[in-house]
Order: sequence, then structure tokens, then C-alpha cells
Amino acid sequence: MKILVIGSGAREDAICKSLMKNVDNVVFCAPGNDGMKFSKIKTIAIDENDFEHLAKFTQTNNIDFTIVGPEEPLVNGIVDFFKSKKLKIFGPNKKAAQVEGSKTFTKKIMAAAEIPTARYCEFNELTKALDFLKDQEFPIVIKADGLAAGKGVYIAENLADAKVVVSDLLEGHKFNTQKIVIEEFLEGEEFSLMAFVDHKRFYPMPLAQDYKKILDGDKGPNTGGMGAVCPVMNISKELEQTAIETVLKPFVSELYQQGIKYTGIIYAGLIKTKKGIKVIEFNARFGDPETEVVLPRLESDLSEIIFSILNHKKLESIKWQQKGLNLGVFAVSKGYPTKPVFGSLGDRDSFKKCPLAINYAAVKREQEQLFSHGGRLYLMQAQAKSVEEAQKKVYRELQKMDQANIFYRRDIGKNSI
Ligand code: AMP
Ligand code: GLY
Repeated sequence: MKILVIGSGAREDAICKSLMKNVDNVVFCAPGNDGMKFSKIKTIAIDENDFEHLAKFTQTNNIDFTIVGPEEPLVNGIVDFFKSKKLKIFGPNKKAAQVEGSKTFTKKIMAAAEIPTARYCEFNELTKALDFLKDQEFPIVIKADGLAAGKGVYIAENLADAKVVVSDLLEGHKFNTQKIVIEEFLEGEEFSLMAFVDHKRFYPMPLAQDYKKILDGDKGPNTGGMGAVCPVMNISKELEQTAIETVLKPFVSELYQQGIKYTGIIYAGLIKTKKGIKVIEFNARFGDPETEVVLPRLESDLSEIIFSILNHKKLESIKWQQKGLNLGVFAVSKGYPTKPVFGSLGDRDSFKKCPLAINYAAVKREQEQLFSHGGRLYLMQAQAKSVEEAQKKVYRELQKMDQANIFYRRDIGKNSI
């Protein structure tokens, strides 16, 4: 099959490489990145929000179907646009993508389906929000309602900080915010559960864990993800089943009952609290960097899975590797996430020599040199029997890369040791 993947990060690199395990597939990525050019992925210079040109490309090249990586085109209605042109595309339509595009929309679905999540209130007026804060306990969580590229969540430690955040959002309209959610702070271990969704049917993937903070020991500001592991060793099979039964199942079924026909990936960001599993967020797409470590463990053919779902054909089973684990570490630019500093990453040979799998993100190629041109550069990963063994493999190879301009966490996987 001929397949187009939309997006430009390490997640899209992982999706493309999973599709290419079936050697009959020809895989295009728009816009992709320069690191993908080391593989057989065909990068196409069309922006992920340029629906008109993306659709034209699929028509002139007889693409069988398109897969959408990032949330922005989904929330902007790329699926509706493609469908209006009778083109096959995997992802939720604009209405269904509100699962990620609107925190309040999703909180209401969760309430209707009795899915455990943080208690919350929504506000669009500054004075009411400030008034509400006066009687609250801290820390408290404040979230911009719309898309904010993962940056719209604040954990305020005290009333003074909370007031500043609320004013920035509702008065300063940071992230174009018109509405905010103020919610209870939850404590516990976070993990991610993704599933392929075909209207009322869903097929869970193995659990993964994303290391979101910039520094070792989960310190410092949040990032787009500094590394990931799959599966999650310290979340038991029973707990995984509970998450499927008490979160995924009622969520998918509530969407369907409300007339929202969801096709694509649902991502549940979960937290294991003292009072049981609760939902932190839902996303309408493959998680990043979870996908990079989850998809290499898929033994079934990803293109067949998606093709069947697009034709609403029931899948008998999806096979996943059962042994060992995958652990991936992101190399990021020094100064990330506030002020990434760009520079050379060395020549192509140093990447080609690396015996481990690499998923590329914000890298640019000039002649035979690779350069950074964003925060997260590439994810290097290993498969191994234990976290320690996987860490040893990845950190040894990252050290060999000897790149002056990069930074990475040294403790990815620590929660599973
Ligand atoms: P989100 O974009 O909603 O996933 O939030 C980003 C990160 O903020 C999460 O992964 C959590 O680490 C943190 N977070 C969000 N909501 C809460 C909450 N209610 N309690 C504690 N931490 C939270
Ligand atoms: N790993 C978090 C996300 O994909 O939003």
C-alpha cells in the first residue's frame, strides 16, 4: 500500500518505520524531517496544516490512506476535509478531536460516563476565577481550555502564583485562551494507555510511561517528553485491566452514545493515586514519545490494522511482543525547553554507525552534517530484558555520539527499576 503520514517528529518517524516493516508498503511523510532521509521514508515538503496540498498529493499519487500524527491538523478538521474529497484518512474528525482540543468537552464526557478524574471548575471570567481561588488548597492545577502545544498546564504552589497564571490566561489571553479549567492536584505515578478505536470497538496497546520533566529525578519544567518505556514494569496486569475497564471502555462507549463516531487513536494519560486510577487527560492521537517505544513492539502489521479499522472490519487480535521492554531516551538541545541553542550534531556516519534504533525529530541536514533546529532532536532506543540493560545500551551509545550541543536525562526508566 501507499501511505501518507502527516507530521515531522520522532513519533511520525516511528509510525513510518512500523508501516515499513511490511516491505510492500511505500511510506511518505509530510513534511517529515531530514533525519528520516536516512531511511526509505519519502519526505514531502508540504506543511501539516496545508490541507489543500496534502489532499492533492494523495490524489495525484494514489495514496491508499493517510495517518495524522499531531493534534493540530485534527483539531483544525483535516479529517473532515479529506472525507469531503472521499479520501481515506485515519484520525478523529473535528468534533471528535475535541477530546484533545477542549478540556471542558472531555470533562463532561467523563462525568457522563462516571470516569474518575480530578474535580474541576471552569471559568471564563477573571473575577470569578480569582474569587474561587481564595478558598482553595494548594497546589492547584490551572489549564488553558484549548490546544497549547503541551504548555497550557500550570501547577500553582500558592495563591499568589495561581493569581498570576489565571490573569495571564483570562486577561492576557495567553495561548488565545478564553476559558480555563481549575482542578484538583493529583499525586501518584503517571502512565499512558493508548488504543486503536473504531467507533464502539477499541484495541488497547501495551502501557507506556513518558518522562516529562527536563531533569533527572523528575525535576524542572515540563517538556514534550524526555524519554519513554514500554511496558510499564511497576503497573500490574490487574491495574492495566482496571484502566481498560474503568477508563477506556466507558469513554469510547460514551462518545458513541453521544453520536460521536470516533476513528483513530485515543490516548489516556492516567495517574495511580491512593484512591485508584484517575484520568489526567485524553489526547486524540498517538502519544509522543510513547509511540516510539510502543510501536516497535507491535508484531501485527500496522498498515493492516489501520486499513481494517478504516473499513470498519473487526480485527481478530493484535499481537505484541511479550518479552523484555523498549526504552528510549531523547537527545535535546542544550537550553531546552526555554531557550534551545542550536549547533552541529556531527556527520551522517556517526548516526549510521549507531547499532541502536534512532527516531529523528528536529534535525536538519546540510551536506553530510546534521544540525539541530529545535528542542527535541532524536530518540535513541534499545530493546532489552531489563531496564538496567536497556539503559546501559542507550547511554553507552549516546556517549559515543560525543555531541557538544545536546543534553539528555540519565535516569529514563528509573520508575520501573
Ligand atoms: P496535561 O497536558 O493535561 O497532560 O498535563 C501535563 C502534565 O501536567 C501531566 O502529565 C501532569 O504531570 C501534570 N498535571 C496535569 N493535570 C494534573 C493534575 N490534576 N494533578 C497533578 N498533575 C497534573
Ligand atoms: N506524551 C504526552 C503526549 O503525547 O501528549
